[in-house]
Amino acid sequence: MSTVLVTGGTGRIGQQVVPLLKAAGCNVRVLSRHASDRGDGVEYLAVDLLTGDGLDAALDGVDVVLHLAGAPKGDEVTTANLVKAAERAKVAHLVHISVTAVDQLPFGYFKSKLGAEQAVRNSKVPSTVLRVAQLHEFAWTTVQAMAKLPVMPMPGGIRFQPVDGRDVAARLAELVLGEPQGLVADLVGPKVYTLPELAHDYLQATGKRRLSLPIRVPGKAGKVYRAGDNLTLTGATVGTHTWEDFVAAQGAVVRV
Ligand SMILES: NC(=O)c1ccc[n+]([C@@H]2O[C@H](COP(=O)([O-])OP(=O)(O)OC[C@H]3O[C@@H](n4cnc5c(N)ncnc54)[C@H](OP(=O)(O)O)[C@@H]3O)[C@@H](O)[C@H]2O)c1
Repeated sequence: MSTVLVTGGTGRIGQQVVPLLKAAGCNVRVLSRHASDRGDGVEYLAVDLLTGDGLDAALDGVDVVLHLAGAPKGDEVTTANLVKAAERAKVAHLVHISVTAVDQLPFGYFKSKLGAEQAVRNSKVPSTVLRVAQLHEFAWTTVQAMAKLPVMPMPGGIRFQPVDGRDVAARLAELVLGEPQGLVADLVGPKVYTLPELAHDYLQATGKRRLSLPIRVPGKAGKVYRAGDNLTLTGATVGTHTWEDFVAAQGAVVRV
């Protein structure tokens, strides 16, 4: 039975992968800053990857690391700490989640994720890197935030390929159970949506009405979005669960 350490296993994606790894017969350890025993047969360890204190003990006897821990800032630091400790522990395989267009968009989050990805790909630990599009929840909370204003600012040219957490979890579990493969095909959702389409679906599902005000995204980011360079239109692994099904489920909760 292989032992898998899931960093960020308490997060949105992590909570969906951990049961799949357990069901596949793995011995699962979860690492995050806030550990509490959930009585589910998983060992929860409290380690802050920003300092790395306690990492060597957490990696003792670990065969595979699934690195999901992430924050708006500092992922290049936390990942470098993890990679160094994984090298010391002679981990056989590090599976790392990254984000699509990580090398295209000039935002701090993407720069930090690119630094994290480079730390993994330059390490001595055999690795697999999966770039994943924005989750359905991200698309939903983006348009939800826009709808807090009486008039929704509507940046032109932005499109997303939102993907379902269940598809992400299934693909990550498959990669953890396989051999190291380096950078694999991006994982995206089944369809491309413009921001106005996502906003329309959100408003309809929640019974809200809003006017929208078109705005232009300036600079390099605007160019990337308008050219569709944030999208993976060929060669991607495509999820099966749709945005429409996700919206229907959210809408049912909101309307209760
Ligand atoms: N959500 C998306 O749309 C999306 C798309 C592509 C890629 N990704 C990437 O997928 C990963 C997981 O995303 P998610 O949506 O599941 O994130 P999430 O729900 O915010 O969970 C983040 C996890 O990381 C842990 N964590 C944060 N900082 C840490 C630190 N310094 N040390 C140890 N653990 C730490 C958190 O636990 P504690 O707070 O208890 O420490 C939590 O378990 C991230 O790397 C993200 O960049 C996400």
